[in-house]
Amino acid sequence: MAKISKTLPVYVLNGPNLNLLGVREPDIYGRTTLADIEKMAVAQAKKHGLAVIFRQSNHEGELVDWLQEARTAASGVILNAGAYTHTSVAIHDALRALDKPIVEVHLSNPQAREDFRKDSFVSLVATGTIAGFGAHGYVLAVDAVAALIEGSK
Ligand code: DQA
Repeated sequence: MAKISKTLPVYVLNGPNLNLLGVREPDIYGRTTLADIEKMAVAQAKKHGLAVIFRQSNHEGELVDWLQEARTAASGVILNAGAYTHTSVAIHDALRALDKPIVEVHLSNPQAREDFRKDSFVSLVATGTIAGFGAHGYVLAVDAVAALIEGSK
């Protein structure tokens, strides 16, 4: 893996419907909003001396654009691709072109849900996956990406 500059931020990218966190199926996804999760991720990254770029989009192509941008602008990527996890070859290919640590995160545990959630185009190219810990999963993902960035130096 290429050398990674710690001066570059970590991209935390969120896919479709994650803007509705807090109100969307709270029994599955919890009551923490995406804005709260952003604050948690920024605070945790700060402990590792890392900055965060935190974004959400409902549009597959926009997520692909951001993953392409991350090739030169990010030290690592944390991605919750939402439902695109299970459908998007385009996101899979964009991740393949990213020579950086990639941590896949899910609030729920897709393996314990419907069969259509059990396949992940992201897992195939992610360094690792954190799932089932709710909003805290993003904190764990920041720790994981920080360790990977540190280890690559
Ligand atoms: C999710 C799991 C996906 O299956 C689902 O489509 C989502 C959220 C999660 O964070 O648990 O939108 O990525």
